[in-house]
Amino acid sequence: MSATAIEDIVVTPLGPGIGAQIDGVNLREALSPATREHVMAAWLQHKVLRFRGQQGMSTQQLVDFSKNFGELDRAPTPANKTGKPYLAEFPNVTAISNIVIDGQPIGGLGSYEAEWHTDMSYNESTPSASILYAIEIPPSGGDTWFCDMYAVYDALPAQLKTRIANLKCVHDASRNSAGMLRKGWKEVADPRETIGALHPIVRTHPITQRKALFLGRRLNAYIPGLSLDESEALLDALWQHAVRSEVTWVQQWKIGDVLIWDNRCTMHRRDSFDAETRRLMHRTQIAGDRPY
Ligand code: SIN
Repeated sequence: MSATAIEDIVVTPLGPGIGAQIDGVNLREALSPATREHVMAAWLQHKVLRFRGQQGMSTQQLVDFSKNFGELDRAPTPANKTGKPYLAEFPNVTAISNIVIDGQPIGGLGSYEAEWHTDMSYNESTPSASILYAIEIPPSGGDTWFCDMYAVYDALPAQLKTRIANLKCVHDASRNSAGMLRKGWKEVADPRETIGALHPIVRTHPITQRKALFLGRRLNAYIPGLSLDESEALLDALWQHAVRSEVTWVQQWKIGDVLIWDNRCTMHRRDSFDAETRRLMHRTQIAGDRPY
């Protein structure tokens, strides 16, 4: 994997076809149209981009950078019990954090492991991109893993591709990515009763037109039209093809890292970390559309 440079922007691939570092771009300033074009092209090619050394970026600068990728999406439900946004003046910015202030978590996910998932795939319309900015990181743990879902689809045996070509899957809305039951939701006893959006198992990226396997998350997933046993067996077979080391890359965070990933062709998961240490990420999300 070798780096390519256009003007002052250097793109260095990091993983096996997924993940690249961009150097030479200061996210605290507005991107010029040419820089924006290079960054967009690199993002579509590498699916996850990392910008290092962006310490001191203000929340407004994070929001302005995020808007290069589309319209900001509504933030997920606040982690605190007051229902108030994390930052009153930035309702589209959330925290992913284990920090607790006055007995209230300031952000989502705590210090738990997050299972493989695609962000908010249980909704009818799903975000195109998610962006994390690392403000505090623990001395170890909390790494974030990414899986290239184009590569997973491309490598499926032809017979499996034919089998799933017109199938859809229900994406469970009841649990968060740390596997916890969301407030007000009932435990799913039988995946045939799972509540959540129904999406095609093979989706087409609206810009690249490439096909990607779209699994969302494993727990409580169900393929309507199949018996429960058939659905479980088929989902297990598909998951076995995904998340192999050949198609994944792991981000080990440094303070000042900004990461953007394409939810239309990737899944991700996060390692747990010591609850006595602190991790704080600011997060934005870009609105997408209904997967097809
Ligand atoms: C997530 O699963 O969206 C959070 C990733 C992270 O905390 O690194």
